[in-house]
Amino acid sequence: MSHADDHQGTRRDFLYYATAGAGVVATGAAVWPLVNQMNPSADVRALASIRVDISGVAEGSQLTVQWLGKPVFIRHRTQEEIDSANATDVSELPDQNARNANIAADADASDANRTLDEDEKWLVMMGVCTHLGCVPIGNQSGDYDGWYCPCHGSHYDAAGRIRRGPAPENLPVPVAQFLDESTIQLG
Ligand code: FES
Repeated sequence: MSHADDHQGTRRDFLYYATAGAGVVATGAAVWPLVNQMNPSADVRALASIRVDISGVAEGSQLTVQWLGKPVFIRHRTQEEIDSANATDVSELPDQNARNANIAADADASDANRTLDEDEKWLVMMGVCTHLGCVPIGNQSGDYDGWYCPCHGSHYDAAGRIRRGPAPENLPVPVAQFLDESTIQLG
């Protein structure tokens, strides 16, 4: 019997821990090695919601977790990134919709409407290019110090908003919330 089978009854209690360099998937007292995280089982992909421990995500770094079979970027932004995103007027954006599942569908793409916390430090979004689905490169990449999709040259800014290239929409913000200061729940 696999570990996954062992814990099917407690799927909702999964905690998904990871840092830039290492991580574990844990449920209760059981700890799985990183290899399991890098090749998530069908059980893990099927989870409707997961909790992510962000306590180890330093400012200026990004954590990528797998959720529902797709990458989710969780970035702890610097003040410089926040200021850069706020310096852009929404009217300049190719896609002026927030694309944030947590707020009104017609909310505009201001930085405050894209981020998860009042200080606008935490940006959570699907790591799937809205053009044809590649995974963009992060860590202040591209011409707008955000994410860059090399497949066909889409540039996203520090708020994950499309700025140039064929991608039609901003990277979508999934249903997410803080459970406490170090835990984000996706879904
Ligand atoms: S898939 Fe990203 S630019 Fe085409």
